Amino acid sequence: NPSNHVRIVEVGARDGLQNEKTLLPAEVKIALIDRLSSTGLKTIEATSFVSPTWVPQLADAAEVFRGIRKVPGVSYPVLVPNLQGYERAREVGVTEIAVFTAASEAFNRKNINASIDESIERFIPVMEQAQADEVAVRGYVSTVLGCPYQGEVPVADVVRVARRMYELGCDEISLGDTIGVGTPARARAMLHAVAQEVPIHALAVHFHDTYGQALANILACLEEGVRVVDSAVSGTGGCPYAKGATGNVASEDVVYMLHGMGMETGIDLDLLIATGAWLAAQLHKETASRVTRARTAA
Ligand code: HMG
Ligand code: MG
Repeated sequence: NPSNHVRIVEVGARDGLQNEKTLLPAEVKIALIDRLSSTGLKTIEATSFVSPTWVPQLADAAEVFRGIRKVPGVSYPVLVPNLQGYERAREVGVTEIAVFTAASEAFNRKNINASIDESIERFIPVMEQAQADEVAVRGYVSTVLGCPYQGEVPVADVVRVARRMYELGCDEISLGDTIGVGTPARARAMLHAVAQEVPIHALAVHFHDTYGQALANILACLEEGVRVVDSAVSGTGGCPYAKGATGNVASEDVVYMLHGMGMETGIDLDLLIATGAWLAAQLHKETASRVTRARTAA
């Protein structure tokens, strides 16, 4: 009997902000993460220690990570593409990281200037150092249901990359529909195939809502047994190297759905809605969360 508890991995401060035209000052990012910390979220991805030339939006990663209030019991992982990023992260006290690659060769070339195999070679030393330092490592596999450059991505490629990352020591593998093209039956079949090789309790799903399929896909994956879901408050996000990809599914909408189904998240939905509305105001745009729109309508 799968548990009734779902852990939300809040990626708004990282995935959400990496693709925004509006550059938020570090103090606003810090305020965002501090607000998120008081909602009951247990995992809040804080930023990325990637190349500032590639992602200028997160060039202030060190300042942001230093500035946030670290609430006991809450994890603040960060994205790390290589040893240089790992060292920058460790200097400011990071204790959890995420490495990332994709199931598509074409996407990896655009996103990290490496093939799948090269990207895995590149993070082997990162993994070794992390293990020596007792730093937890999450692994992202992108383009699991389609690629903006090569189109279809065979499920076998997703399984192979996910299994390899798990064998290398990732504690959790997040399966990303980077461009939001997936539909529920395909999402479920993909997860089912990966779960033959990686235990389901070590898997997470990460849906972008480009085609409006994210909540349906999450529901299908919950039925398959997944209990970790990535989402971004206010539905911000997108990868700058995935043309046309829009935001992540909004955390408010996921939490509303889960609570409505009698599942628990430990999150205070009202506080999450207030945080999402606040963030949308900071970004001078309308929230993408349907729940927040409904609740804040006059
Ligand atoms: P490169 O240009 O091939 O790397 O980039 P390089 O090693 O030749 O380095 C070039 C320059 O960058 C050098 O500086 C390095 O020092 C510097 P220079 O000598 O020219 O002055 N550099 C760095 N500086 C700071 N921190 C670092 C770092 N590394 C190198 N860590 C690289 C390769 C991987 C670095 C680059 O392609 C990169 O940073 N890419 C990141 C792209 C990215 O962040 N994409 C978004 C995240 S993935 C995503 O959103 C998907 C996800 O949400 C799941 C999903 O939705 O599917 C996770
Ligand atoms: Mg993403």
